[in-house]
Amino acid sequence: MSDPTAAFADYEREATAALAAAATPDDLEAARIEFLGKKQGRLRDLQKSLGSVPKEDKPAVGKAFNEVKTRVQAALDARQAELESARAGAAVDALDVTLPGRAPHRIGAVHPLTRTIAEFKGILGRLGFTAVDGPEVEDERHNFNALNIPDDHPARDPLENFYLSAASVGKGEGPLLLRSQTSTVQIRVMEQTPPPVRVISIGRVYRPDTIDATHHCQFHQMEGLMVGEGVTMAHLKTVLTLFCRAYLGEGTKVRFRPSFFPFTEPSVEADALWHGAGTGDGGAEGRWLELGGAGMVDPNVLEAVGYDPEKVSGFAFGFGMERFCMMRHGISDIRLLTENDVRFLRQFG
Ligand code: PHE
Repeated sequence: MSDPTAAFADYEREATAALAAAATPDDLEAARIEFLGKKQGRLRDLQKSLGSVPKEDKPAVGKAFNEVKTRVQAALDARQAELESARAGAAVDALDVTLPGRAPHRIGAVHPLTRTIAEFKGILGRLGFTAVDGPEVEDERHNFNALNIPDDHPARDPLENFYLSAASVGKGEGPLLLRSQTSTVQIRVMEQTPPPVRVISIGRVYRPDTIDATHHCQFHQMEGLMVGEGVTMAHLKTVLTLFCRAYLGEGTKVRFRPSFFPFTEPSVEADALWHGAGTGDGGAEGRWLELGGAGMVDPNVLEAVGYDPEKVSGFAFGFGMERFCMMRHGISDIRLLTENDVRFLRQFG
């Protein structure tokens, strides 16, 4: 080697340029092998050429060689760090943390009817009413006879009920039917329990109605029954008023209109004057909404279950539940409650 110093300078210049020009980790690795590779490449060639340096020059040339090598190595390290931080920066730019996740977790929602059932049970539970259930397939005793509904009553018309012809072999009880009202549970409870009783029963009832936005062939009723000594209509009105205030809002009033049911005497239709609490509906004057039937349990019913009508009295009420639920949640069509359309159901999450 004629002039090792010149060769070092060439090497350093070319190495620095190649490292600076490396745009990717692969480029950089290729430059590293070419300029700093241990087994072959430019550095190795320079090292080999040191063998021909005169002995007295060796310390100085060796030192210069090491210094060049150290600088080129430092240039490599610096470029490597640069490329890495550029890559990390690009990754951060590609991640928009304000975007929603790709597969958000869907959390199920409680069905509005289920929610209404739970709320009704909660409110009446606080008033001392225990929630009980009864069967949906009933015999005529519980759906009619014990409720003082005579054989010739229009409510017993086969066209008004879902009789189960195939299953009509009860134990001498006559034909079976899908219950048309939850008043059946009044009878079942009183048959099993001596007074006093204070129960509600929420469940499905079935009637062959033409289905439209406000009618269905199956819907829910909440039955209430309170029997004991000295129970009066004032208790009925108090319970209904407290219930309506809890569910519909503080200012809600309850009114009674005279009515008729075979199993209550006197019988009323109960309405609530509702100011639209919770939905902004109803206006300043509010509007009367029908709650359902109610009244004082007829003495014939008390007798039919073995209670003494001279000793105890009671009230009962039976409300359609869907109407409450629809009003409270602004639902305009009863069919939505049973169609299982997730677009509808998701709104109740
Ligand atoms: N069972 C009656 C109906 O379905 C409602 C009712 C229940 C009326 C209890 C009075 C007492 O219409």
